[in-house]
Amino acid sequence: MLGRLNHVAIAVNDAEKAARIYGSLGADISPAVPLPEHGVITVFVTLPNTKIEFIQPLGETSPIAKFLERNADGGIHHICYEVPDITVARDLLIKEGARVLGDGIPKIGAHGKPVLFLHPKDFSGALVEIEQA
Ligand code: CO
Repeated sequence: MLGRLNHVAIAVNDAEKAARIYGSLGADISPAVPLPEHGVITVFVTLPNTKIEFIQPLGETSPIAKFLERNADGGIHHICYEVPDITVARDLLIKEGARVLGDGIPKIGAHGKPVLFLHPKDFSGALVEIEQA
């Protein structure tokens, strides 16, 4: 059920600037992509076994604005695991008492695939994203 680590997301004020140092080590860096539905701009750094997702606030009500108020220099924001079927995973997690953020309906994430976010209190203090692989 639980698949690969898809990415580790780091919230920053400038995603392209943050990714630059990875480029100096030869990592593949994506262009900046605005995701208005999620209130962020993303830049992905592709590593051999996973990705780093830099997220920058987009719009007045960005869900990462508060995080950046508390962490002015940026910081690790969430980790994303792949699952084969997001609604099956969601229903199993709800049955176990885990809290799904938002309305519980998967949204299309940065890779064009359905994603959901899970409450950090149910995952040892880490915000978790699941993405249908
Ligand atoms: Co993510």
